[in-house]
Order: sequence, then structure tokens, then C-alpha cells
Amino acid sequence: MPGKRVYLLLVASIATLFVIAACSEEVIPTQEPVEFHPTAAAEVDRPDSSGDEPVAEAPDASAGDADAGRNLFISCGACHNTDGSTAVGPGLGGVYARAGERTALDADAYIEQSIREPGAFVVDGFSPLMPSFSYLSESDVTNLIAYLKTLD
Ligand code: HEC
Repeated sequence: MPGKRVYLLLVASIATLFVIAACSEEVIPTQEPVEFHPTAAAEVDRPDSSGDEPVAEAPDASAGDADAGRNLFISCGACHNTDGSTAVGPGLGGVYARAGERTALDADAYIEQSIREPGAFVVDGFSPLMPSFSYLSESDVTNLIAYLKTLD
């Protein structure tokens, strides 16, 4: 029966084709192997990459932050002008330059005392009307001093 033989041949060839296809699938790589070549990170020039110091510049606390001090001065502006003119209290223009001459204290210490204990030294011609700002933190006072330094 030639019909059946043709049929068997057909089935056989189809099966062979499948086998070939399966084999070729294994042989032909579907994807190029990815080669990974790690490269060393480029040297970054940092201001101080030698030590363990953080790279970001933190504001120098000892120098004070005049902008923060300006914000704090809101509590002072009701009584103090920032030029030389008198309000309730003396005008604070140039205060840093004269602060060291007021008492035996240096300028920073005198201003800190003026803020925390205003009654300890009362400027000639003024009444002891200034309230104590003893609740201010050390850095608040430092920032206020930094701001007062900018007034002339
Ligand atoms: C209610 C008013 C008032 C407020 C608010 C006030 N002051 Fe005064 N301040 C005075 C008066 C009055 C004097 C002068 C009398 C004295 O020495 O205590 C003075 C004196 C000073 C002096 C000494 C000035 C000098 O020429 O020697 C400094 C510094 C000063 N104040 C800083 C400040 C700062 C900083 C603040 C805010 C944190 C502030 N004051 C808030 C009234 C005030």
C-alpha cells in the first residue's frame, strides 16, 4: 500500500526535522555571552579625601552662622536698631568693635553676657530694660554674635 508508506515517510521526515531543529537549537547560542570587564572607578578630586572627615562642608560652628543669627535677631529688633541709632537699647551698628572695650571681657564674652545676663553691665545712659535671653543655646548665641559682627 503505497499510500501508507508515503504517510510513514512523511511522519518520519517530520520527526527528523523536529530532531534536527531541537539539536540546532542546542547548538546555536541564542545569546552572545556577556563579558563583564569591571573598570576601576575614576579618581574623584575631593577637598579632603585623605582623612575620615565627611566630604560635605559642615558650617564651622565656632565661626557662627550670620544668616541664622539674622533670623534670631527678630527677638532683638524691637529694641535695637542695626545702625548706630538709639532705640530702646543702643544701636548695634559697630557693637562688635566696641564690645571688647565695655568691660574686662573680650568682645565675644561681653556680647554673650549682654544676651544672657543683661543686668550684669548696663550701658551708660540706658535703663536695665533688656530681658535675659538665657534660654538661647550656645550656637544661637554664636550665630547672633556672627550676625552682630556684620553690622557696622
Ligand atoms: C526689651 C528691649 C530689648 C530687647 C528685646 C533686647 N535688648 Fe539688648 N539692650 C536693651 C537695652 C535697654 C540695653 C542697654 C542697657 C543694658 O546694657 O542692659 C541693651 C543692651 C544690649 C547690648 C550691649 C550694647 C552695647 O553697646 O554695649 C547688646 C550687645 C544687646 N543689648 C544685644 C541684644 C540682643 C542680641 C538681643 C536679642 C537676643 C537684645 N539685645 C534684645 C534692650 C533690649
